[in-house]
Amino acid sequence: MQVAQRLEGVGEYYFSQKLREIDAMNQAGKQVINLGIGSPDLPPHPSVIATLQAEAAKPNTHAYQNYKGSPVFRNAIARWYQKWYQVTLQPEQEILPLIGSKEGIMHICMTYINPGDAVLLPDPGYPTYKSAATIAGARVVTYPLHEKNNWFPDLEALERSDLTNVKLMFVNYPQMPTGQLPSIGLFERLVAFARRNGILLVHDNPYSFILNDSPMSLLSIEGAKEVVIELNSLSKSQNMAGWRIGMLVGDKQRIDEVLRFKSNMDSGMFLPVQLAAAKALSLGKDWYDSVNAVYKARRKKVFELLDLLHCDYSKEQVGMFMWAKVASPTLPKEENKHPLGIGGALSDEVLYNANVFITPGGIFGTAGNSYIRISLCSTEEKIAESVERVKKFLAIKK
Ligand SMILES: Cc1ncc(COP(=O)(O)O)c(C=O)c1O
Repeated sequence: MQVAQRLEGVGEYYFSQKLREIDAMNQAGKQVINLGIGSPDLPPHPSVIATLQAEAAKPNTHAYQNYKGSPVFRNAIARWYQKWYQVTLQPEQEILPLIGSKEGIMHICMTYINPGDAVLLPDPGYPTYKSAATIAGARVVTYPLHEKNNWFPDLEALERSDLTNVKLMFVNYPQMPTGQLPSIGLFERLVAFARRNGILLVHDNPYSFILNDSPMSLLSIEGAKEVVIELNSLSKSQNMAGWRIGMLVGDKQRIDEVLRFKSNMDSGMFLPVQLAAAKALSLGKDWYDSVNAVYKARRKKVFELLDLLHCDYSKEQVGMFMWAKVASPTLPKEENKHPLGIGGALSDEVLYNANVFITPGGIFGTAGNSYIRISLCSTEEKIAESVERVKKFLAIKK
């Protein structure tokens, strides 16, 4: 059977392929430590789980739900945005709960893209932007992010390029995979750029609480609602990745447009999940501090691992990964020809010789080829064990 043309150029998600390979290594007794995926290993707050349990035990919580989500959840999102981002949202009109923000990326592309429309995507950036835009029939135009420019886009260069038919631009700060924080100046320049060029900015904002005390929303910039919609998520900051809870926020008209597509795709979220999510969003600073204390301790160990691997990295990064430049000049020439660059070669070397998986930066775009990314979603013990395994391998290699 021939698959549809829209899937041309869209392969299996890298991690889904890699996890199969790691499973096979584990079946062969390797006990691989996976420092790749950004799925929090810690549970949500106990009150969140208690809410889910109590609500699921009631007889009247099992029906189909409103396509726009429960008012309790939408009000909780509005209060959360006001408290942490100083952004005022109308809960009835400017908020759309999502089954994870990943689905929102697809819905947005399907809502706005006609075949041939162009979409601007960051390189390096979250791979789902590219696959969703491709499936929707977009012409994908990547904009490079460079370390020397703080991983910010060069908007002047972009403006000198041909922006005809560019309809959407995805941006994501704190940036994944580079861990770069935004600045108010960057956000203001982005909004002005979008307005001048008639582009809808899609800001993907799932990491703003991780290792960061000053979460920012692109919607906090004056007039932003005219040109910005923002995705957010409970996956990372509330340790609820498997629950699949996200949100799209923005102008009423944009929300209604995306809802027109989404309401044809699913039939709402399980009410107890929404009520538990509302509980999670009401948690105070202690919750975020407790999550971040764990990541800080792990990050120290990751620094050790990166030093062993001769990588350069910034200690200012935020989010749940460490992004680092591979500086090793010792790799044989042929390894430099790895399809994912020197980062891919190092990742393979560490996987096959030390049974530790780290993500090659090249999977986020060619601008990431000289980099690797290490997740903070493993225990300190596991990271310490990785350090020992890599030390042993490096000693043998000498
Ligand atoms: C940049 C970025 N956006 C979105 C997502 C998806 O998050 P969610 O679990 O809300 O679908 C991820 C998950 O890894 C991510 O890294």
